[in-house]
Amino acid sequence: METMRAVRIHAYGGREVLVYEDAPRPEPEPGEVLISVHAAGINPIDYKIRAGYAKNWLKHTLPLIPGWDVSGVIEVTADGASHLEVGGEVYGMLDFRRDGAYAEYVTAPAAIIARKPTSLDHVQAAAVPLAALAAWQCLFDLAGLSAGQTILVHGAAGGVGHFVVQFAKWKGAKVIGTAAARDADFVRELGADEVIDYQAQRFEQAVGDVDVVFDPIGGELQRLSWQVLRKGGVLVSTTSISSPEVAAEFDVRGEELSVRPDGTELTAIAELIDEGRIKPAVTAVFPLAEAAKAHALLESGQARGKVVLRVRD
Ligand SMILES: NC(=O)c1ccc[n+]([C@@H]2O[C@H](COP(=O)([O-])OP(=O)(O)OC[C@H]3O[C@@H](n4cnc5c(N)ncnc54)[C@H](OP(=O)(O)O)[C@@H]3O)[C@@H](O)[C@H]2O)c1
Repeated sequence: METMRAVRIHAYGGREVLVYEDAPRPEPEPGEVLISVHAAGINPIDYKIRAGYAKNWLKHTLPLIPGWDVSGVIEVTADGASHLEVGGEVYGMLDFRRDGAYAEYVTAPAAIIARKPTSLDHVQAAAVPLAALAAWQCLFDLAGLSAGQTILVHGAAGGVGHFVVQFAKWKGAKVIGTAAARDADFVRELGADEVIDYQAQRFEQAVGDVDVVFDPIGGELQRLSWQVLRKGGVLVSTTSISSPEVAAEFDVRGEELSVRPDGTELTAIAELIDEGRIKPAVTAVFPLAEAAKAHALLESGQARGKVVLRVRD
C-alpha cells in the first residue's frame, strides 16, 4: 500500500489530537479524481469536527483526515471524470463525510471540483471554496439578493463575511458591515459602504429597513437583528434560526444555510476572481505539520479573512 504524509485525528478532542503521520494514499473510485494537494484551507467546521461536535451527524470512522477546502493538481482521473484533465490545476470544497485535504493526496467526485482561478496561487485558491460557496448560497440561493437592495453583513471581516461583502457589492447592493474597530478599514476596502464597530455601537440602533441580514453568529445577535429588516425582509444564518418567534413578530423570514459542494458555482466564482471582482484575503499560512497552530489562530477569533495550510511548495 502506498502511503502519504497527512494530519489525522484518532480521537475527538483539543488541538493535541491532530497528528502529523503516514496514512494510506487514497484511490479514486469511478467518476472521481485523485488530487495532489498543494494547499488546504481551514474553516471553523474543521475544529468543530475535531472537537466532536458533529460526530452524531457525520458519523465518521476514525482516524479522519480533516480539511474540506483544497487547491491542487489532478494526478489521476478515474473512468467518468471527464471535464478535468491530468495535470490541471483545480480547487474545490470536499464532502464533510469523507477524508479531507490535510494530506498530500485526496480523492473527490469530479463533479464538485472546478478549475482553479488562474490569477491565484494554490494558497490563495484554497482559501476560497467553502467560505465563498457559503456566501454565494446565502446571498443568491437563500436570500435572492438583487441590485439596489441593502444588506447588513455581521462578521464582515470573517472567512464567510468577507466574501459576502464582495459578492453583495458585485451584485449592486448597498453593504453595511459590522466588525471590530481593527478590521474597519479592511471591510471598507472590500467594498462596504458603511462599517459599524460592533463593540462601540449598537447595530440595531444604527441600522433599519434593510432587505437582507447575513448572520454568522446566531443567539443574541440574531435576536436583535430581526428588527432591522423591512417587512418581508430575510435573515440568512450560517448557524441556526433560534428566535423564529421574534421573526414572526416583525413579519420577516429566516433561512438557515447548509453549505454544499458545487463545481458549477465554483466555476462562476473563479471567473469573478479572474476578472478581478472578488479576492480572498489570506491572513496566515502554516505548513501542514503545524495544523494545530492554524487551528489555534482560527479558534482565537482573531483571524481576519482566511487561514491556510501549505502542503507542497
Ligand atoms: N451552515 C453552514 O453551512 C456554514 C458554512 C460556513 C460557515 N459556517 C459557520 O459560520 C460561522 C462563521 O464562519 P467563518 O468562516 O466566517 O468564521 P470566522 O472566519 O471565524 O469569522 C467569524 C467572524 O465573526 C466576527 N464576530 C464575532 N462576534 C461578532 C459580533 N458579536 N458581531 C459581529 N461580528 C462578530 C469575528 O470578528 P471579530 O474578529 O471582529 O470578532 C469574525 O470576523 C462559523 O460558526 C462556521 O462554522 C456555517
